Amino acid sequence: MDRACFLITLVFIFLLTSCNNSNKSVYATDSFKKGETIYKTLCISCHNIDPRKDGILAPNIAGANYELIKSMIMTGKHPVGVEPKWPDAKMAPLPHLKEHIPDLHEYLKTFK
Ligand code: HEC
Repeated sequence: MDRACFLITLVFIFLLTSCNNSNKSVYATDSFKKGETIYKTLCISCHNIDPRKDGILAPNIAGANYELIKSMIMTGKHPVGVEPKWPDAKMAPLPHLKEHIPDLHEYLKTFK
């Protein structure tokens, strides 16, 4: 009887943890993929296909934080107090991408 209880508990724990894991990774992968697609379609006309390197028209942006990405997309300017990498260049805002800022962040944060 003790042994059966132990086994049932084990199976229960296994089911619980496997559910949690799969939910998380499906969500992360989905958002990451959207961000990757947008980056590789729109952003690379100026930024490098490898976000860790400078592009022809725009600087490297590996690991850019959420606030910086949001600010550049919505206003084309840096958040107050953040130093631009290329102070003499200007990025035109892309506010139609508003709902994809989390996806772009999900993608860009994986580069260092
Ligand atoms: C038409 C060219 C162009 C496109 C397209 C473009 N950018 Fe930029 N981006 C720039 C330029 C130029 C700068 C530098 C401007 C500045 O520092 O004010 C910049 C700067 C940035 C920065 C800040 C870098 C830093 O640390 O100073 C981020 C973040 C950024 N872009 C993200 C993006 C993302 C994400 C996309 C795609 C959705 C994108 N950009 C599309 C031209 C572009």
